[in-house]
Amino acid sequence: MSDKLGNMRRTHTCCELGVENVGTEVVLMGWVQRRRDHGGVIFIDLRDKNGLTQIVFNPEVSPNVHAKAHVIRSEYVIGIRGNVKRRLEGMTNPKLKTGEIEVFATELKILNAAETPPFIIEDHVDVSENIRLKFRHIDLRRPLLQKNIITRHKAAALIRQHLDDLGFIDIETPMLTRSTPEGARDYLVPSRVNSGMFYALPQSPQIFKQLLMISGFDRYYQIVKCFRDEDLRADRQPEFTQIDMEMSFVGEDDVMEITENMMVSLFRDVMEKNLQTPFPRLSYEDAVDRFGLDKPDIRFALELIDISDIVENAGFKVFSNAVKKGGIVKAINAKGCTDFTRKEIDDLTDFVTVYRAKGLAWIKVREDSWQSPIAKFFTDDEKQALEKRIDMQPGDLVFFVADQSKITNEALGQLRNFLGKKLGLIQEDSFSFVWVTRFPLLEFDENEGRNQALHHPFTAPLEEDYGLLEDDPLSVRSRAYDLVLNGSEIGGGSIRIHQRELQERVFGALGMDREAYEEKFGFLLSALDSGAPPHGGIALGFDRLTMILCGQPSIRDVIAFPKTQKAACLLTNAPAGAGKTQLDELSLRIKKS
Ligand code: AMO
Ligand code: AMP
Repeated sequence: MSDKLGNMRRTHTCCELGVENVGTEVVLMGWVQRRRDHGGVIFIDLRDKNGLTQIVFNPEVSPNVHAKAHVIRSEYVIGIRGNVKRRLEGMTNPKLKTGEIEVFATELKILNAAETPPFIIEDHVDVSENIRLKFRHIDLRRPLLQKNIITRHKAAALIRQHLDDLGFIDIETPMLTRSTPEGARDYLVPSRVNSGMFYALPQSPQIFKQLLMISGFDRYYQIVKCFRDEDLRADRQPEFTQIDMEMSFVGEDDVMEITENMMVSLFRDVMEKNLQTPFPRLSYEDAVDRFGLDKPDIRFALELIDISDIVENAGFKVFSNAVKKGGIVKAINAKGCTDFTRKEIDDLTDFVTVYRAKGLAWIKVREDSWQSPIAKFFTDDEKQALEKRIDMQPGDLVFFVADQSKITNEALGQLRNFLGKKLGLIQEDSFSFVWVTRFPLLEFDENEGRNQALHHPFTAPLEEDYGLLEDDPLSVRSRAYDLVLNGSEIGGGSIRIHQRELQERVFGALGMDREAYEEKFGFLLSALDSGAPPHGGIALGFDRLTMILCGQPSIRDVIAFPKTQKAACLLTNAPAGAGKTQLDELSLRIKKS
C-alpha cells in the first residue's frame, strides 16, 4: 500500500464534474463519505470541501483496483484515477451537483487509512456538543460547519474590500498590552523579564484606535481578536472577533451611515438580501420603555404598556406598593391567548423569576368578565382604565410585573421575546436592524458600589448634559450607539471625548481621582493634549453577525475552534497547568486550595 501521491495529480475537485466531462480521464482526491458494496460493484461517495462525486469500482473495468477497494472504509483518504461516465437513466441523483455522472476507477491510491470516526460526517448528528468539540477537526468536516466557516471567510473578505474602497487602513494593535476597560475581567499574561508584572490581553483595541486617530490615520479598521473573561453564553466567547473601526472628523450620522452601507453590501453579496436604509433609531429610553430591553427585537409588536398611574392606589398591594416605592407596573397583552393552561402560566411565572421578578400576575379577558386571581382587587373605574390602556379584548391574556423599573422592564422584555417565539409572531427569515442611541453614560454597579461606564470611559457625553456631570452623573446621556439585529447586540460604538478637560471630568464622575487616572490613563490624556481630532467609531461582533448570516443558534457554530461554557478547549485541553520551572521563571506560586 502506498502512502504517497505517486504519479497522481488532482485534476478536479469533488463537485466539479458534469456531463461535459463525460469521456475524459480525471484524478480526484478526498475522503470516503460512504462505501456501498452492491454484490460485485463497489460504490464510493468521495468528499472534499466542495461536495461529493460517486466513484465506481467495477471488477470488469479493473479487477485489481476493485479488489483493493474492499479495504476502504469511511474517512479513508484516497486518490483515484478514472473515466467519467454518464449515469444510466433512472440512476441520476438530482440532489447532487455531480449527480448525472460517475467516475469508473482505473487506479486507486490509499493515501491514508482512518479509524472509525466518533460520529458520522453528516449535518444532523445525534451526539453531544462536547464530543464534537473534542474531535473538532472531524466535526469541521461536516458540510454545515464547512459552509459556516466559508461564509465567515466570504464575509470577512467582503468587509475588507468594502472598507479598503472607502480608504480605511488595516492596522494591527498589540495583544500584550495594558487593561482596556470594556467592563469584563482581563486575561492576564505574566511577564518573565519584569517579575511580578502582567500584561493584559486586549478586551478591545479601543485606546489604540483612538491613538491612531491622534496620529492622523483618519480611518482605521481591523478584524481583530478580543479577550474577555466573563460568564459565557451562546453568544459569548472568551476570545471573539470584532470588526473594529475608528474615524476622524465624524459625528454619529457618519458612523451609522458607513456601518449601514457595509451591512447592505454584506447582506446583498452573502445572503442575496436587500436591506432598507437608513435603519430605524430608538433612544435607549424609548427602547427600554417599549420593549423592556436595550436590544429590542423589533420584528414583532407585543409592546410593554406602563399602567403605574392607573394602579398606584389599587387594592392589589403588590401593584400599589411597587409604585409607592418608586417602582413601576407594566403589562403585555398576549392577544388571543386565553386558552393558555394553568401549567403554561406557571411556567411563564418561573421564566420571569429568573429575571428577578417576584411574580407574574395575569388576567384572562372573557366575554363579560375577567378571569384572574387579582380581578377582585380593582374598582370598576380602574378596570375600565386598564381595558382602555391595554386594549383588552375578549380572548386576550394580559401579564403584569410590578417591581423596580429595571426588573420590571427586563422581566417583561424577556417574556416578550419568549412569547414572540412561542406564539410564532416572528418571521424567521427577516432581518430587522435598529440603532439604539443616547445610552446613559454611567450606571451604578451594585457589586462594586460605584459608578461604572456603561460603554467605556472614553465615550463622549451628550453636550446638553455636560452640566450634570458633577451633580447628577447618573442622568447624563452619552453619544453611544448600539446596532441591534433581530434582538441581538451585534455592535456598539460612540463618539469619543477628544479633549483632556472633558475626559478628566468623566474620570471624576467615575469616582477616579487625579492620581488614579493619571496612573492608568496618563498616556491617553497626554495624547489628547497633543492635537487630537474629534473622532468616533464602532465595533461589530463578527461572530454574532456571522451566526445570524448562517442562521445558527450559537456563535460556536461559526468559530473553527471555540471554547466551552467553562472557557476550555476540549481539543487541546487548554487551559493546562504549568511546570515548576516555568512558574519559577515567572515568579509565580500556585495557592493550594
Ligand atoms: P463592545 O464592548 O460593545 O464595544 O463590543 C462590540 C461588540 O462585540 C461583540 N461582543 C462579543 N461577542 C462575542 N463574545 C463576547 N464575549 C463579546 N463581547 C462583545 C458584541 C458587541 O456589540 N471598543 C468598543 C467599541 C467602540 O466603542 O468602538 C467595544 O468593544 O456584538
Ligand atoms: P399573591 O398575592 O402573592 O398570591 O400573588 C397573586 C398574583 O400576583 C400571583 O399570580 C403572583 O404571581 C402575582 N405577583 C406576585 N408578585 C408580583 C409582582 N411583583 N409583579 C407581578 N405579579 C406578581
